Amino acid sequence: MNSPRTATGPSTQDPAAAEAVFLAAHLTLLTPLDVRPGDVVADIGPGAGAVTIALARAVGDTGRVYAVDNDPAMLDAVARSAREADVADRVRLVRHDLEDGPPPIPEPVSAVWSAACVHHTRDWAAAVAGLARLLRPGGVLCLAEGGLPTRCLPWDTGVGRPGLEVRLDEAHNRWFTDWFDQHTGQARQTGGWVDLLADAGLVDVSSRSALVDVPAPLPDHVRATVLAELAARVGRARPFLTDEDAAAWARLLDPADPAWAGRRTDLALLTALSSHRGRAPEAG
Ligand SMILES: C[S@@+](CC[C@H](N)C(=O)[O-])C[C@H]1O[C@@H](n2cnc3c(N)ncnc32)[C@H](O)[C@@H]1O
Repeated sequence: MNSPRTATGPSTQDPAAAEAVFLAAHLTLLTPLDVRPGDVVADIGPGAGAVTIALARAVGDTGRVYAVDNDPAMLDAVARSAREADVADRVRLVRHDLEDGPPPIPEPVSAVWSAACVHHTRDWAAAVAGLARLLRPGGVLCLAEGGLPTRCLPWDTGVGRPGLEVRLDEAHNRWFTDWFDQHTGQARQTGGWVDLLADAGLVDVSSRSALVDVPAPLPDHVRATVLAELAARVGRARPFLTDEDAAAWARLLDPADPAWAGRRTDLALLTALSSHRGRAPEAG
């Protein structure tokens, strides 16, 4: 999985900063959910809560957003963001591990949003089926998972051999495959996200993607996120990189090195995020 939002494993990333960079794309993917004032919705695996806050604003003071996460630090971050945005009154925090079944949300919801979370679970089909059961009739489940590999640097950076990023994708994919094999201990899940949504009984299943295109020169906050994400990817992929590529990345990621990527005028952010959604059948 080369999703730009795959954050499994060690990371130096500041989740709130990264979410701010990807928020516009997430909001594009959320549009078909048509969240309105008074709605009750859920954000599963909210991270630091950038989308939770957007949802809380959309449901207004008569609606509710359930933010579900197994990491108390993430729920604390969501609570902080909600207080700062003055929407804490409509955000409900639910500490729950998707491995333990569907989240205990006490009322049916009209929309479930989950970005870069379900792929962390052992059994994607079971997790998707559990999330589908949260929906009221006609409600929509939207999973933001997958997308295109990220491109930040030119093909030839002048450090090491050309094609560093393509080989990083390959090494990162090998890391993820190993992580997945060790993590699941289960049969491979060979269907696409659309198949999992359909198998969960949802109808009108479809996918769309949103471009994330921040050209050079990058604003400082995007530059910091790009560098942190590159460092995290290199850290995870390290066992699968050649020594030559690892040395090139070490130079590009070292602020003390003249080749530091943070000094480059051509550092950019180009990727795409995908989402997959399906609707619970109307009652009767
Ligand atoms: C990569 S972050 C994505 C954050 C945010 N949705 C985004 O797209 O920026 C994954 C989130 O899912 C949560 N998560 C991972 N595995 C989980 C599980 N088994 N049950 C509940 N939450 C989980 C993490 O704690 C984290 O908040």
